[in-house]
Amino acid sequence: MSDPLDLPIRPRRLRIQPQLRRMLQRVRLHRSDIICPIFVKEGTGVRQEVPSMPGVFQMSIDVAAIPGSDGSFADVVSGPRAIAFTSDGGLALVVDQNSQDVLAIDATHQAQVGLLRPLPGRMPDGIAIASDDATAFVLQRNTRDVAIISIQRGAAGTSLAVTGTIPLSTAVDPMPADIRAGQHLFYSANSDELPITFNHWVACASCHIEGRSDGVTWKFEQGPRDTPTNAGGMLGTGFLFRTADRTKVQDYFRTINLEQGGAFDPDQHAAELDAIAAFVNHGIPAPIPPTTDAARVATGKAIFERADVGCSGCHSGPKHTDSGAGNPDLDLAGAVMLHDVGTCATRGYPDVDHDDVAGDPRAACMFDTPSLVGVASSPPYFHDGRATSLRGALELTRGMMGDISSLSEAELDALVEYLRSL
Ligand code: HEC
Ligand code: HEC
Repeated sequence: MSDPLDLPIRPRRLRIQPQLRRMLQRVRLHRSDIICPIFVKEGTGVRQEVPSMPGVFQMSIDVAAIPGSDGSFADVVSGPRAIAFTSDGGLALVVDQNSQDVLAIDATHQAQVGLLRPLPGRMPDGIAIASDDATAFVLQRNTRDVAIISIQRGAAGTSLAVTGTIPLSTAVDPMPADIRAGQHLFYSANSDELPITFNHWVACASCHIEGRSDGVTWKFEQGPRDTPTNAGGMLGTGFLFRTADRTKVQDYFRTINLEQGGAFDPDQHAAELDAIAAFVNHGIPAPIPPTTDAARVATGKAIFERADVGCSGCHSGPKHTDSGAGNPDLDLAGAVMLHDVGTCATRGYPDVDHDDVAGDPRAACMFDTPSLVGVASSPPYFHDGRATSLRGALELTRGMMGDISSLSEAELDALVEYLRSL
């Protein structure tokens, strides 16, 4: 019997509700289908078989080629962003936004059968396969064009080749050139082009997904650190990092070299770092707050500003932070206002005393007041992500962060409603 769903045009309204989408869905993709666990071990040149799991290895990150499930060597790709299947379901093409390539996967045997790298443009973002299964189109968001890719499947294997590009617009790019360049670098793990990472591994956007947060608490040198959002930019938020360790986005060459495994020289790569800073500061829109109840927001604002409750003592100014107050040049060795609000991690993977980027000491448990702009959209909260909700954040710091002891349930709700409106 022919497939009843094999319609040349799949009517849009069939996708209107989740129940309909589930009923008519043809490809079911579960997280477990796409996660390929890799066991990383410290050191170099390590490739040790796990005794209880034959064929599974612990490897150090310098081991460039990671074996695929069929024993062949697979390539490292990062930032899978979109997927398309040929009409027989046998071939899947995955667009990797950060490593900037298209990975071909034999969907039946779940093995890599090809990799198209480099692509002609930057920041691949989406893919469609034409109904003849011979051509794919890859949207390249940064260069504002579409790459045309030929797909050849035969006895000799699968091969992909770029055959052209279609510009999406001939109009002048509305995004200024430095922000556009920074967007590319922020999303790029293309180590063939620049030493921004090692082996196509990590981009800024790997953790700051779409310039925001992956919601992951990473084990950083300073202690556990939940990825903060970059939405709305860093200007006017005072010092950077949870313990005021940095002052400008250009300092992130250290993140490139440490967390991303790259090799950026702050002088040699000054132009690239300026472009990344331009993108972070001006290219990531601030989140739109959720719909809130105006009357409760007004009540909450008044509570937030009450001297006995004390929120606005630290969360002051237009971005609701005292970071950098009285220190307009952001002198790291000067007055840096940090607070202990009862959130120090002392067990497990603890916060530790450390130095800022200029070598000034920073105490383990003293934190920089975060901006509260867009706070509703960036859970979990606190430097180590210990609170999953705004209300939870207030409960966990009861008696340590301001004084909410006099507030009724309704007043606490109003305070949270105000936070959600920021
Ligand atoms: C491994 C994940 C990861 C990667 C990759 C990463 N970041 Fe971050 N980023 C974090 C975490 C976690 C913090 C918080 C660190 C701290 O406060 O000590 C952070 C903090 C920041 C901040 C400060 C935010 C604030 O409010 O203080 C900025 C800006 C930033 N990152 C930009 C970047 C840029 C630009 C890149 C690429 C060069 C990058 N990040 C790569 C995880 C990451
Ligand atoms: C003594 C200064 C101080 C006072 C007073 C204060 N805060 Fe904070 N606030 C901080 C610091 C510092 C952090 C970050 C702590 C951390 O990351 O572990 C923080 C974090 C937060 C967060 C989580 C933000 C995020 O993105 O993780 C919220 C929400 C918040 N405060 C709301 C309030 C409210 C509401 C009040 C009043 C009841 C208040 N704060 C009073 C300093 C203060």
